[in-house]
Amino acid sequence: MKIVKNRMRPRTAVIPVAGLGTRFLPATKAMPKEMLTVVDKPLVQYALEEAQAAGIERIVFVTGRGKEMLADHFDYTPELEGALRARNREEPLQQIRALVPTPGCLFFTRQNEPLGLGHAVWCARHLVGDRPFAVILPDDLVWSEPGTPPVMQQMCEQFEQLQNPMVAIMTVSQQETSKYGILDPAEVESDGSRLVRAKGLVEKPSPQHAPSRMAIIGRYILTPDIFELLGQKRAGAGGEVQLTDAMAHLIPRQPLYGFRFQGTRFDCGDKVGFQMANLALALEQQEMRERLLPFINEQLSRWTPDHPI
Ligand code: G1P
Repeated sequence: MKIVKNRMRPRTAVIPVAGLGTRFLPATKAMPKEMLTVVDKPLVQYALEEAQAAGIERIVFVTGRGKEMLADHFDYTPELEGALRARNREEPLQQIRALVPTPGCLFFTRQNEPLGLGHAVWCARHLVGDRPFAVILPDDLVWSEPGTPPVMQQMCEQFEQLQNPMVAIMTVSQQETSKYGILDPAEVESDGSRLVRAKGLVEKPSPQHAPSRMAIIGRYILTPDIFELLGQKRAGAGGEVQLTDAMAHLIPRQPLYGFRFQGTRFDCGDKVGFQMANLALALEQQEMRERLLPFINEQLSRWTPDHPI
């Protein structure tokens, strides 16, 4: 008799939002860095919408002190809604009401100390339970062309076939390896395949020691086996509990894959990457593009002749 394996998809996404955002001071002194806005939406909203587009209904935010605004962003705002209703502003009214997920689908837990990404994910263990789960880092904003599924949906579709943990990867320059978790590929990449099996992972290796230029970006699908390792709280790169290290330890027991996603990733944890995201996403909207392009051209002519870039 043929045994049909029960194929699972992640039903929970963990979104770590406890970071202090020191690179964006003074903007992030009192405001969570995840509320920084790309065009007209805060970063955290992009992350949540990406999870929802992938069919993930349970969202676990791992927060910290001073992050209450994040919960408010996904709640009703009766005063504001009343004002919009009184002015017949139907469109923004529907927009802000649609932001509120089905009751009971948002969970908040605190990472009381900044001990690293691995520790933040471990803080979500009781809320994740015994099923595969996704991790989405809001700093990494991934834009996909219209018609292309968002990156987490792409990953969930792969996971349904594979049933093994995976991380989204992209190629970075040799000098940049020290900013990322880097994948050590187990095989030569076959042309056209989006999946690369890993034989190891290294967190933020120096360019000389990097096993490849395949960098992990902030999208993961993991299985609950990871929690036992994270619970050991072993310090890795930068003295922090690294998610990358725990995944690397699991490789001998469980295959792990890098997934080359379709889309453009913006590093919104960095001031320049953040500006690039704003510009690129604004240019996607026709109305904004029409006003921005002449301005960009004007800026270019202002800067290039006398101020070589
Ligand atoms: C984290 C991870 C790293 C990953 C990166 C992606 O690093 O530890 O492995 O490559 O996110 O953005 P962070 O940027 O939080 O230092």
